[in-house]
Amino acid sequence: MKIHFLYGSQSGTAEILCDHMMDSLSDGFDGEVSSLDEVDPTDLDGDTFYVLVSATFGSGQVPDSAQSFLETLEERKPDLSCIRFAIFGLGDRSFGETFNNGSKLLMTQMLACNAQMVGERGLHDASSEELPQNVARPWLKGIVDQLSA
Ligand SMILES: Cc1cc2nc3c(=O)[nH]c(=O)nc-3n(C[C@H](O)[C@H](O)[C@H](O)COP(=O)(O)O)c2cc1C
Repeated sequence: MKIHFLYGSQSGTAEILCDHMMDSLSDGFDGEVSSLDEVDPTDLDGDTFYVLVSATFGSGQVPDSAQSFLETLEERKPDLSCIRFAIFGLGDRSFGETFNNGSKLLMTQMLACNAQMVGERGLHDASSEELPQNVARPWLKGIVDQLSA
């Protein structure tokens, strides 16, 4: 199975995290990593599983590199009913109400386009002691276990 990791990042953490997650895939999974600004939502492929990883910036917005992807979902509302995805958010609880809002915006719009979400949204808090990969790897394992079941 192909797993395509799509990151929205302002300062690089989400991209590094996607590389960590891809390295953790077992044999039998074919991984790829791209920035969200390299992908058009209307070109998503039903034979691929997508893992979206997005930071939050500004006042609860997606990073610049995720903006066009999000806008295309909002404005063109492509039919994504044959697309399966999971989503992991990078944020910081010290921002209060906007904690991880970027990944929430992306998740909401993917679901509004009828994409099928596997598992729960994973969340990392940059103000915690935990490294992102130590939260994301077990989260991804749970997702992959569901895909393999
Ligand atoms: C200027 C700025 C604004 C931020 N705004 C938010 C926010 O509103 N909500 C949140 O949860 N995290 C916020 N963050 C935290 C980042 O999302 C978090 O540090 C993330 O790990 C960065 O990932 P990246 O390196 O891939 O961009 C902000 C960080 C910065 C520097």
